[in-house]
Amino acid sequence: MSLSYEAPDWASYRIDYKQAYVGVEPLEQEIAVVDAGLAALLEAGIIDHTAYDGDKLLAHRQFVVDHFEIPWTAITPRMQRLIYALNAITRPANMIAAGVFCGNTFISNAGAGVGPGKCYDAEALVGLEIKPEEAERAERNVRRIDPTGIARVVAADAIAYVRDWPTGIDLLYLDADGTPEQGKGVYLTILEAALDKLTPGALVLAHNSINCAPRLGQYLAYVRDSANMKASMNMMVDGEGLEVSRF
Ligand SMILES: C[S@@+](CC[C@H](N)C(=O)[O-])C[C@H]1O[C@@H](n2cnc3c(N)ncnc32)[C@H](O)[C@@H]1O
Repeated sequence: MSLSYEAPDWASYRIDYKQAYVGVEPLEQEIAVVDAGLAALLEAGIIDHTAYDGDKLLAHRQFVVDHFEIPWTAITPRMQRLIYALNAITRPANMIAAGVFCGNTFISNAGAGVGPGKCYDAEALVGLEIKPEEAERAERNVRRIDPTGIARVVAADAIAYVRDWPTGIDLLYLDADGTPEQGKGVYLTILEAALDKLTPGALVLAHNSINCAPRLGQYLAYVRDSANMKASMNMMVDGEGLEVSRF
């Protein structure tokens, strides 16, 4: 089913990609936008409750600002909060993030399971990055926040990696930009390779549901078809957007 949540100012809410966590709106406004989005997801049956610890999210954010090397990121404070909250609420034992660049998108997910934002015990939180030098930097960043290795970044092609993953996947985050020809169209290929690993009720999150919607046409049609997913919602909290689908 195709649903959407629209923050009133999603199109004008902008950040500087090189200083993503310099506040661009009052914190209360950021919280209100994400809370309203979570309420919409609850109503659609995509999540089962909306409670998460906002102080832990802020501790996580501060650690990332202080210790991560982030050349740029399109993950806005609203999006970071939404992704963190979805992980804190659903507590995936096994989470895989595909296309993590410097690791900021990955840790926005995994930060609910490791580091100062930890609110549950995870089994494995894996970030995948096809470019070895980017994977190396992402892994360096992640080691600073999680000495345990529960969260880790692997240099790999996400398609093959999820196909060979030996157990269930409770949350799959998609952000890979594929080859120049296919671009973000690779999301559907990665999802198809992961399908038989998704646990019942698993969440699939797809970044860029707004600004890459044309390239994501087939992916979005797939997840919005109730034959494939229980429900799916386009979370229009910023100009990038996040499609949140429940398997
Ligand atoms: C544009 S970045 C995502 C950036 C992220 N939205 C942010 O704001 O930090 C996408 C990443 O996916 C990686 N990638 C592309 N195809 C991939 C694949 N098949 N498997 C794993 N990573 C892939 C690219 O190397 C790139 O670093």
